[in-house]
Amino acid sequence: MGKWTGRAAAFADSYVHLCAYTAPALLSAAGLAPGIRLLDVGTGTGTVAALAVAGGATVTAVDAEPGMVELARAVVPEVLHAGLPDLPLPDAAFDAVVANFVVNHVTDPGRAVAELVRLTTPGGRVAVTVWPHPSPPLQQLWNDVMAAVGLTPAPSIIPPSLNFARTAEGVAGLLTGAGLRDVACHTISWTHRTDVDTWWIGPANGMGALGEALAGQDAATVAAARSAYERLAAGFLDDDGALALPTAALLASGRAPSVVR
Ligand SMILES: C[S@@+](CC[C@H](N)C(=O)[O-])C[C@H]1O[C@@H](n2cnc3c(N)ncnc32)[C@H](O)[C@@H]1O
Repeated sequence: MGKWTGRAAAFADSYVHLCAYTAPALLSAAGLAPGIRLLDVGTGTGTVAALAVAGGATVTAVDAEPGMVELARAVVPEVLHAGLPDLPLPDAAFDAVVANFVVNHVTDPGRAVAELVRLTTPGGRVAVTVWPHPSPPLQQLWNDVMAAVGLTPAPSIIPPSLNFARTAEGVAGLLTGAGLRDVACHTISWTHRTDVDTWWIGPANGMGALGEALAGQDAATVAAARSAYERLAAGFLDDDGALALPTAALLASGRAPSVVR
């Protein structure tokens, strides 16, 4: 079973709201303008693609998980079921290619970004986001819950030899290594507002570092993790009782070379 198999509905109820924050900056970095041909890879429920449609782009979206494709089709006209690193699309077919929190979920990020470059017209833009390391408080909360109940993080799906540092330099290096020019990377910081029960939907459905560590654990361990989560999350409750979690993302972009490699 793939990491995202059967998780579209739970993603739509939880992480989709977190991931949506970077969509405007990602599209701006990709040079969104009316009439451009834009590809959104790993579209999930279609957040970024729908925003690009609203901005006047001609949008194609793809995702490897059928449940995501079904949800995205409700908001984006053209959604393909396809997965990195080999997308069934012609060379240089798009003016801009974006991937919002996707290249950290593939087994060979360098090959995945090279595929985004292949699909981009010479001089066109590729823009991606990934979560940074060290972990901001939102992500660190899951690490703290794991530590509190003695859970070990699941191993990365990316072999060490293919991995990259989750820093501005690391992500810029990933894009440069895939052939992009004029690469820039910066950090976007914000506070994600949710509530204690909604934010638990992710780990309860196998998503995020805690969700992956909880997969296959017995009910007592899951209950202990939930209890540790409630105790630790209490430190992030605002005056209205909402969960306010500071977080950040790395946004990197570059220009496709004039000769497609
Ligand atoms: C964290 S979600 C982000 C979804 C969306 N970009 C957003 O911002 O809401 C990661 C998405 O990447 C998709 N994905 C994972 N591996 C993929 C691959 N190899 N090719 C294409 N999509 C993939 C997942 O199905 C999921 O929809």
